[in-house]
Parts: sequence; structure tokens; C-alpha cells
Amino acid sequence: MPGDGPGGGPVFPSRLSETGCVDPAHPDQPASGLVPYGVNVELWSDGATKRRWISLPAGTSIDASNPDAWVFPAGTKLWKEFSMGRRVETRYIERTADGEWRFASYVWNEQGTDAVLASEHGMTVAIATARNGHYRVPGEYDCRACHEGASVPVLGFSALQLSSDRDPMAPHAEPATSIDLNQLVAQGLVRNLPKTLIDFPPRIDVRSPVDAQRDKDYFATKSAIDRLTRVSAMEAGKLGYGVRVNCVYPGLVPTIMGSQLAVDCAELGLFPSPTHAVEAVVGLTPLGRLGEPADMADAVAFLASDAARFITGVGLPVDGGMGM
Ligand code: HEC
Repeated sequence: MPGDGPGGGPVFPSRLSETGCVDPAHPDQPASGLVPYGVNVELWSDGATKRRWISLPAGTSIDASNPDAWVFPAGTKLWKEFSMGRRVETRYIERTADGEWRFASYVWNEQGTDAVLASEHGMTVAIATARNGHYRVPGEYDCRACHEGASVPVLGFSALQLSSDRDPMAPHAEPATSIDLNQLVAQGLVRNLPKTLIDFPPRIDVRSPVDAQRDKDYFATKSAIDRLTRVSAMEAGKLGYGVRVNCVYPGLVPTIMGSQLAVDCAELGLFPSPTHAVEAVVGLTPLGRLGEPADMADAVAFLASDAARFITGVGLPVDGGMGM
């Protein structure tokens, strides 16, 4: 019912059970007829676990002629449920009869018996297991900021995300237990998928850890920190905050994360064992050893001390020369 809601927007049902996601008699169970699916590369959300479902109106299907912009029929509904120890929210996207997409989120009660429509401005829910004890439900503006940048606002129901050829390097990858691309085609839910994608399920091409998609994401994030450091230093300096802003680039330190990297490399067959992986890093390091937590702490203490009073906006490698 477009036009009836606040600000002329659409009216959403006040309860999740009314969206068709859950069985109204047992709101803790998904409604019958929904198609559960999992994605290859999921969005990380502070460690929340997720379940996803799609439903298409009876007799309709998705036109996948353009692999990069699937056309979803009017009446398509998608849900994504977030849990942190208990169910917290279920996000909902629907394509209306006029072809528009609408976004809402439903917040679960503590007992997990039903979920009610969240404010369109988002809200904060107290969750003991969440970081800082709070969980943030995004507002509609946030939903659109993420979902409307691409040609189709559905981000995770696509050939690559549903491919049976799962990417073992994908961070937080889920096993392909749910429906995959070929099953969707066989069931008639997806049509006109180019035959090459049926014969050769698509996959993010991973040749080495350096080429891996996750490393592209990782390095992009690191570059962002670099720029943020410089811009923050510029602003803090010019506005006279009396604050300097610097960052350190640590080399490999055998913490839980660093050691896991060596294990991952060995599991991928890049090295015969984690020890060989570590030896390779040491071999590339002019100072001939791995980093230690104290190396990082001392560098940070220096940058924060008066001895560094004229240093701002720098990224300091603390890596035994490995990054040279
Ligand atoms: C930070 C970016 C971001 C925000 C904010 C966000 N989403 Fe998403 N959403 C994604 C990505 C990326 C996926 C696909 C990957 C996945 O499912 O984990 C996704 C998947 C979904 C899905 C499953 C269908 C699909 O598009 O793949 C639904 C439903 C959904 N989001 C609804 C919402 C709603 C409603 C809101 C606002 C209340 C919202 N999202 C806010 C990024 C975001």
C-alpha cells in the first residue's frame, strides 16, 4: 500500500508473522514454502549468526539473463535473521507491485516468540552477548545506503553468492548446505541463467592468499586506515585540537590471528606445514625473526610520547623490515 505510511511511504505489517516469514501459529518456525539459502561471502556483523529465506509469488521466477542484474518479480520477499545467542532481528526486503523495493527490520522479543517492526530510524537493543552489551538495528536510510548502490538492491541472492563452487578462502564462509544455483534452476525459480554458469558454477578466483578476495578487502581496509590517519592528523592539527594522529603497521606476530595465518597457508597447500610458512616469513624479514607484542607496544608508546611530539600523520612499519 504505497503512500499510506509516514511521509507518504509504504505501510509495513507491525509483526514479522504478518510478512509471511514465520508460521503465525509458531512464530519461532519459518513459514512453509520459504526457500532457505546461504551465501558464499556473507556480510560480517559483529559475529551474529544468520539465516536467510526468499519467497516468490506462486508461478513466478527470477530472470537471470543478465548475471549481474537478476530481475526479481513483483511480490518477491527476502528475509535475513540475525542471532547473537538468541534471535535479535529479522531484516526484510520486498518488491512491491509497482517495482519499488522497500526495507524494514523486525526486532525479536527476549522470549523469541515474535518480532515487531523496528523504527524506520533504527534502534538499539540490549543484548548481553553483543559487544558493549548493545546491538544496533539499522534504520531504513542505512539499509538503502548499502543496498541501493548496486544495479539490483538484492545483494546476496546472485549467481556468485549461490554457486555450488564455494570459495574456501571466503571469510566466515558457510558450508553449501542450502539450495544452490543449479537446484534453483532445476526447480524453475531461476530462469534464463546463461548455460556456462550452469555447466561451470562461478567462483571468486583464488590463486594464492595474496590474490584472494579476502586479501583485497583486507588491503582496501588497511589503505583506508592509512588515509584516515593522514586526514585526521590534518584536521586535528589545523583545528588546534592538540592531538597527533599516527598508526603502526605491524609485521607478523604469532598471536592467535598471526599463528592461524600460518595454519591457513599450510592447509591451502602453499607450504608443507605451518612451520614452513613461518620460516618463509622469517626468511623475508631483514631482522630475521617474527614480531613480538612488545615490539608493537613500544612503537605505540613512542608515537604517543613527547619524544614524537613533531610526528603526526604517519604510518610506521614495525615489521623488522619485511615490508621494504
Ligand atoms: C552495511 C551494509 C548493509 C546494511 C546497513 C544493511 N544491509 Fe542488508 N545486506 C547487506 C549485504 C552485503 C547483504 C548480502 C550478504 C549477506 O546476506 O550476508 C545483505 C543481505 C540482506 C538481505 C538478504 C537479501 C539480499 O539482499 O541479499 C536482506 C533481506 C537484507 N539485507 C535486508 C536489510 C535491511 C532491511 C536493512 C536495514 C534495516 C539492511 N539490510 C541493512 C548489506 C547491508
